[in-house]
Amino acid sequence: MTAPTPLIAGNWKMNGTSASLAEAQAIAEGVGDCPARVAICPPSILIHRMAQALAGGKVLVGGQDAHWDDAGAFTGDISGEMLADAGAKLVILGHSERREGYRETDEVVANKARAALRAGLEPIVCVGETLEQRKAGRALEVVTGQVRGSLPAELAGQTFSVAYEPVWAIGTGLTPTTPEIEEVHRAIRATLVELFGEHGKSAPILYGGSVKPGNAAEILHADEVGGALVGGASLKAADFLAIVRAV
Ligand code: PGA
Repeated sequence: MTAPTPLIAGNWKMNGTSASLAEAQAIAEGVGDCPARVAICPPSILIHRMAQALAGGKVLVGGQDAHWDDAGAFTGDISGEMLADAGAKLVILGHSERREGYRETDEVVANKARAALRAGLEPIVCVGETLEQRKAGRALEVVTGQVRGSLPAELAGQTFSVAYEPVWAIGTGLTPTTPEIEEVHRAIRATLVELFGEHGKSAPILYGGSVKPGNAAEILHADEVGGALVGGASLKAADFLAIVRAV
């Protein structure tokens, strides 16, 4: 099986208004024919306009979350079908800010992944240990447990990715060492193969947490790193493009 095509996805979180569409345009114009797939996941209210602005280009648009149900009485929530209807192709699920802030469990994340597949969206499922868990020597156990619990069997044969995002590295400027990243990514790969057999080799495993132009090349060339999920550095076209070009 050939190595998975790398994916560089920008997670804008709760940042951006109409004015930021120009930044997305600049990213789309700058990506050229880079070997990676590139996506921007803006706040949901910008998805439709961004998808229209970037239509026909290389840069895909994604959501940051989607509900586990397809429709119904869920005030304030957005379904996968709505994201897809607005032009999203992918969706981030189980980000640690959702797991922590909204008490999303592995089971909730797995149900969201099922719903995303029903809507034709490509899930990016996030996992990652806290600093406390790492210090206790439990990083591998926590992360592989999240992979087992958050990836439903329905992902077999589908296009998806896993993002390893150590909670303590998100937005902090701290990153694990390259051997630490490789250790976790190899463990995730082994778990994917255990769950999905040969197909488990085709999903890229992204690294996320303080990826910047200055550290992107080393991280992206590490063993079993198949791309990046980029927060803060995806908000500025120049920084995001520098990361894309480091693939
Ligand atoms: P960061 O965020 O790049 O700002 O650390 C990454 C993420 O939360 O996906």
